Amino acid sequence: MTNERNSSEDKVLVTAALPYANGSIHIGHLVEYIQTDIYVRFLKMTGRNAIYVCADDTHGAPIEINARSQGVEPEEFIARFQEEHERDFKAFDVDFDIFYSTNSEENRAWAYRIYEALGRNGFLEEQSIEQLYCEKDERFLPDRFVKGTCPRCEAVDQYGDVCERCNATYEPTSLKDPKCSLCGEPPVGRTSTHIFVRLDAFSDFLKGWITSGTLQPEIRNFVEGWLREGLRPWCVTRDGPYFGFEVPDRPGKFFYVWLDAPIGYISSTEKWAKDHGKDVAEYWERPGAKIVHFIGKDIVYFHTLFWPAVLEGSGLALPSRVVVHGMLTVDGEKMSKTRGTFINAAEYLQHLDPQWLRYYYAGNLSSRPDDLDLSFEDFKNRINSELVNNVANLCHRSISFAGSRLEGKIGRPSDGELEGKAMDLMKEIREHYEALEFRKAIRSINELADLGNVYFQDREPWKVVKSDVEAARATVTECVNIAGLLAVALEPVVPRLSAVIQEILGTAGRKWDDACFDVADRTIGSARPLVSRVDQEQIDALLARNAAAPVPEAGPPPADAKTKRTEEPAAVPDAPTIDYEKFAAVSLKTGRILEATKVENADRLLELKVDVGEPSPRTIVAGIAEAYPPEGLVGRNVVVVTNLAPRKLRGIVSHGMVLAVGDGGKDLTLVEVASDVPPGKPVR
Ligand code: 2FM
Ligand code: ZN
Repeated sequence: MTNERNSSEDKVLVTAALPYANGSIHIGHLVEYIQTDIYVRFLKMTGRNAIYVCADDTHGAPIEINARSQGVEPEEFIARFQEEHERDFKAFDVDFDIFYSTNSEENRAWAYRIYEALGRNGFLEEQSIEQLYCEKDERFLPDRFVKGTCPRCEAVDQYGDVCERCNATYEPTSLKDPKCSLCGEPPVGRTSTHIFVRLDAFSDFLKGWITSGTLQPEIRNFVEGWLREGLRPWCVTRDGPYFGFEVPDRPGKFFYVWLDAPIGYISSTEKWAKDHGKDVAEYWERPGAKIVHFIGKDIVYFHTLFWPAVLEGSGLALPSRVVVHGMLTVDGEKMSKTRGTFINAAEYLQHLDPQWLRYYYAGNLSSRPDDLDLSFEDFKNRINSELVNNVANLCHRSISFAGSRLEGKIGRPSDGELEGKAMDLMKEIREHYEALEFRKAIRSINELADLGNVYFQDREPWKVVKSDVEAARATVTECVNIAGLLAVALEPVVPRLSAVIQEILGTAGRKWDDACFDVADRTIGSARPLVSRVDQEQIDALLARNAAAPVPEAGPPPADAKTKRTEEPAAVPDAPTIDYEKFAAVSLKTGRILEATKVENADRLLELKVDVGEPSPRTIVAGIAEAYPPEGLVGRNVVVVTNLAPRKLRGIVSHGMVLAVGDGGKDLTLVEVASDVPPGKPVR
């Protein structure tokens, strides 16, 4: 096999659907851009020659109408959205190789070329069709600019293409009592001649294409049903006024979205290729590169029937795979402006960390097109118990122990059994990413972190270090190496967290195959915060704020809009003033948690053994079981009230209290002190 052949086999072109330049990116859109980004980052880390291509979908009558209603040219209108979209994607670490625009000369040239090829090959025809026309506005009305009564269930005030009450889809001309959304007048039916792609001519080709491993089984069943029903010619033009490309030989007619937007996949590749000294033909004109489209359920028909037919009919390369994801619900329901769950990317960012959403989506995505629910309760719990208390905890505790007790010096890993187990998990994680089973990858990543946490806890380096520094170093060396693997395994999902860990360990830029227990005989950097916990207040503020200020339907913020500041939560009122003597009457000391076990039949309680600098550890019963798994607690340095009268809880006598912040239950964060402060020191 030659190198040439190798490199062309490794070429992967991955796309996500082009967002309309007619509205803001919201958390529903982000499922797809994040899913695709994770996949491409993974491909790149595993040595594949992958590119992530996307663009704004800038054409259409709605864009023309909305721009006009804002008193700006469509070019300016789409430019504002392009800027906003690029800013939002960047903030969520969605790292396109190119994010271009369908309003480009490359796209025009490809649209013309494809149109010409389809015509030359006999796949175009003309048909006269009747559409709704507003005589007052002197224009044909796009589906979403007509409202009327649903022809099936009689619900009033429904759009021209779909009834939101009964989900029926129909032609705008079937709507009862239609009204133009621009002026409120009833439109009339008017006949016009349009160009159609003869989709029916591709039935046999498509039957073969959909059964060649291109589709998920669930989607294939669906598409086979459509093929059985029979394909009909597909209208690809619209009458002006329209913002888009005029059909070369038909003045006043424009290419409609489906002979324009997906062509953006090709024209954006061309732009990327030009900028990088490559040839677009290697992707779209010759077989060899893999083309993978990620899309939502709503555009399956176009991508699995219409688009491959157009590519085949114009002699271009075909997609190898179309990956469909489900739709996002929030707390079990469709996103809703009144409930505050219609959340734009920018609004999310004012309150919450983008890495949390990436992690949460990854933890819920599989290779199937199942819908995905963002439950904020689950979101908070998973981030806090998995990402913070398990994964980041292992990294942080081992790095900070190395820094505070071992001068940052790492030894040479020697526990082959641990390394073997960790490398087996790395292999599993890789397979899960490859199969687009991200939630399984996240589960295995947590197992890897568990492995490290249990090792740290069992070997008690915080005790051992007092008598045998090298034994403590050996333990920490193993754990630091697990942290190194975690950074690699997590990179596709939370690249920022991964970068911080890698920077501390001095392993930046590692590829998947480089990951092994090789952090050895070196001094690592010092600990710093890795990722913060989710506070219920942050979620409440996001939902409350969003419900109070509904998202506008369309129209980007004015170019000079200032970023709004996060609202500070209301201050908690003070208890009555006390003098110093009263405060001094409370003994507060540092303590180190040595053991943590669940208290039987008490969901909230943990029995802790805490070293508070006395000859033997204290037993303390703490109500923190919902916020912390016991294995995540051992080795933590906390603050203890040591002179509280002993109290019996579930038959266990508690000799003190561990301080924590929060309202209780899952909402608790321990007050912690640096790990180099010894137990038993007074806190004042
Ligand atoms: O459905 C959509 O979001 C459209 N903007 C089309 C995107 S996919 C494509 F480009 F074909
Ligand atoms: Zn009108």
